Amino acid sequence: MISIPYDHPNATGCSTLEAWARTPSEPDPAEKTALIARIKQLLIEQDAVLVSHYYVHPDLQDLAEATGGMVSDSLDMANFGHSHPAKTIVVAGVRFMGETAKILNPEKRVLMPDLEAECSLDLGCPLDEFSAFCDAHPDRTVVVYANTSAAVKARADWMVTSSIALPIIKHLKAQGEKILWAPDRHLGSYVQEESGADMLLWQGSCVVHDEYKAKELIALKTQYPRAKVLVHPEAPRAVVKLADVIGSTSQLINASRQLNTDIFIVATDNGILHKMRTLSPHKQFLEAPTAGQGANCVSCSHCPWMAMNGLRNLAQVLETGSNEIWVDPAIIPRAVLPVQRMLAFAKQISLPVRSIGNV
Ligand code: 13P
Ligand code: SF4
Repeated sequence: MISIPYDHPNATGCSTLEAWARTPSEPDPAEKTALIARIKQLLIEQDAVLVSHYYVHPDLQDLAEATGGMVSDSLDMANFGHSHPAKTIVVAGVRFMGETAKILNPEKRVLMPDLEAECSLDLGCPLDEFSAFCDAHPDRTVVVYANTSAAVKARADWMVTSSIALPIIKHLKAQGEKILWAPDRHLGSYVQEESGADMLLWQGSCVVHDEYKAKELIALKTQYPRAKVLVHPEAPRAVVKLADVIGSTSQLINASRQLNTDIFIVATDNGILHKMRTLSPHKQFLEAPTAGQGANCVSCSHCPWMAMNGLRNLAQVLETGSNEIWVDPAIIPRAVLPVQRMLAFAKQISLPVRSIGNV
């Protein structure tokens, strides 16, 4: 593997602290009931469907499922929004998820509870520097993670999500292609090691997953010898190496349900625990240890941008039509190509694409 020293600061837009300051406060039970009822009514009136990620507030995950929408990983979110007939897609997640929905469905309205909900990987991969990286390596196939802007996708040959990155890189390696990869260095080095592909890696990272610590995880495993360790591949390599299962959020949830053990250590955003505990109420789920001192986020195993999504701002965008995702129409025809390539590949290899109730 060749790795180059592209060392980007994580958050340059709405920083993690600014994001935490925008976290909606919890409505009291009466307000919550009223908001849920209002949102259900507005979704019908607006011909809208709610698509939530597993890291957002449990209320928004449950509401998506209760109203005929979906809670899922980023691959299934893209698929579901694309195949659903609703004229408006409401994305409870982060901006790149809203942009992917818009790129795939330019004729639809895509709304988000908070347009400032970003992602450190996206923020750490600005178009001008990424373009220079691509220009310097014209012989390489450009593969970008979903967690990038529409403009960066428009420079790529392929888009991947965590659930399909490894099969796609193996496929490209079999074609004899050399890869330019961006932006997550941990996911990049995981797929590089697993596939043996020749990859140049951008050095981005996720503020949440970067915090998991191998030494402390080994200590926790010693304390709970029966526990199986579930790790998202955005975590550092030393942590991924300790995993029993490595996968996207949906794949980790599947494993938590299917594995015949009653205790798990989970190294991904703790928003995922809601679905894991709902599906397996008799099992115990422990959060993997994070950095604590010296952390670049607040090291709480929760994404500050995902936390910006709440019932109040969801009701408000449905009420007013504000917070519509805008992607430059001039770049959509180019940006859609790597996304469509990934979706076609997923279909071809029959990667299970989930439907509601079938996690
Ligand atoms: P998944 O595709 O696994 O849901 O990951 C999205 C993400 O942002 C993880 O941090
Ligand atoms: Fe981005 Fe990390 Fe948040 Fe996922 S958890 S959206 S990778 S900052």
